[in-house]
Amino acid sequence: MQDKLSKMSQNFKMLAKTLFGFEELLAKELRNLGAMDIKIGVRNVSFIGDKGFMYKANLGLRTAVRILKPIRNFKVQNEDDLYQQLQTIKWDNYLNINGTFAVDSVANAENFTHSHYVSLKTKDAIADYFRNKFGKRPNVDLDHPDLKINIHIQKHDCTVSLDSSGESLHKRGYRSATNIAPINEVLAAGLILLSGYDGSQHFIDPMCGSGTILIEAAMIANQIPPNINRREFGFEKWDDFDEDLFDIIKNSLLKKARESSAEIIGYDKAPSAIRKAIDNIENAHLEDFITVRQENFFNTEKETEGKTIVLFNPPYGERLEINVPIFYKEIGNTLKHGYPNTNAWLITSDFENGLKNVGLRTSKKIKVFNGKLECRLVKYEMYEGSKKEKFLKK
Ligand SMILES: C[S@@+](CC[C@H](N)C(=O)[O-])C[C@H]1O[C@@H](n2cnc3c(N)ncnc32)[C@H](O)[C@@H]1O
Repeated sequence: MQDKLSKMSQNFKMLAKTLFGFEELLAKELRNLGAMDIKIGVRNVSFIGDKGFMYKANLGLRTAVRILKPIRNFKVQNEDDLYQQLQTIKWDNYLNINGTFAVDSVANAENFTHSHYVSLKTKDAIADYFRNKFGKRPNVDLDHPDLKINIHIQKHDCTVSLDSSGESLHKRGYRSATNIAPINEVLAAGLILLSGYDGSQHFIDPMCGSGTILIEAAMIANQIPPNINRREFGFEKWDDFDEDLFDIIKNSLLKKARESSAEIIGYDKAPSAIRKAIDNIENAHLEDFITVRQENFFNTEKETEGKTIVLFNPPYGERLEINVPIFYKEIGNTLKHGYPNTNAWLITSDFENGLKNVGLRTSKKIKVFNGKLECRLVKYEMYEGSKKEKFLKK
C-alpha cells in the first residue's frame, strides 16, 4: 500500500505539444491545473507532475495536442547510434510481448532528414530487443497500438517518450459528423481563449458549420473538461494504469463544472451543416447550452442583450467556392450595421481578397495556422452606435 501510494505521487517531467502560437495559453492552462516547473518551448510546454496529473492534463487541457512522457535522452550522430541506444531501453517494462506498438518521429537534424526512416529504425530496434531477449516480438499496429512511442531528434539530442494521449487530443469524442471544412477542436479552443472569452459574455458563431467552435465555447463557459467524452487515452493501456485514480481525477474535474447563463448561438445557411452541428452538440451533451438555427448571417442582427463575442471561421477561398471580395465586404457590413456592442473575431487565410475587403478597422491581428494554412485571427470592435449618436441620445 505504502509502495503504491509513493508510486502514485512520484513526479516526472512531461511535455504537452500544442499548435503554433498557443504556447502561452497552454502554459496558463497548466498553471490553472496545478502543474509544476512549467517551461514554454516551441509548440510545446514542459512541466512536472505525477501520474494523476498526467490523467488530468489529458482530460482537462483544451490547447494540448498530446502529452508525452519522456523516458530517455541521449546523443545521436547517426542511425546506428540511434539503434544502439534504443536497444539499451528495457522495453519489456513498457510493452507486453503480445501487445502492439507504433512509432511517431520528428527529426530536425542534418543526419536524420526523414522522420519516417527514424520511425522504421526505432521499430527495428524494439523488435530486435524483444527477439533477442524472448525469441518473439510484439507487432506493429499503426491505427490502434497498445503503446505509442515518440522519438524527437533535435540536432544531436534524441528524446524517447511514451505518448500518454494515444490519438491526438483534438479527437474529443463528440464529432460524429463532419462538414466540408471543420475546424480542428484544439484550434477552435485556442482561438476562443485568445479572444478572452470566459463564459461571462454571450457568444455567437454565425457560420458554425458542424458546431466545433460553439461546442468548445460551451465547454469553456461551463468549465467542462474538453476530453471528458473521449473514448480512450493511450495511458489506459499502460501496465501501470490506475483505473481508480483515473475515476477520482475525472470526478474532481467534473466537480469544477458550473452552469453558465451565457447564450451560445450558431447560424449556418446550409441545412446540412445545421443537422451536423445538432448531432455533434447532442454527442457533447450540450443541447441545453447551445442554440443553432439555419440563417444567412447577412440577413441577421444581434439577438443577444449586452456584451457579446462573435467568433467564426468563414469559408476560405482555397476550400470553398465563394466570391471572396464580395463575401468579406458583406461580413463587414453585417457586423457594422447589425452587431453593435460586440467584439467580433474571425480567422482567415484570405489576406488580400478577404480581409482587405471587410472595411472595418482591425484592433488585433494574431498569426495562427489552420493545418498548413497560415491564417490571421483578427478582431473588430463594434460600438453601440457612433460617438455622435451617443452624444445626441444624452
Ligand atoms: C469553414 S466552414 C465553418 C466550419 C466550422 N467552424 C466547423 O467546425 O465545422 C464555413 C461555413 O460557413 C457557412 N456559410 C457560408 N456562407 C454563409 C452565410 N452567408 N451565412 C451563414 N453561414 C454561411 C458554410 O455553410 C460553412 O458551413
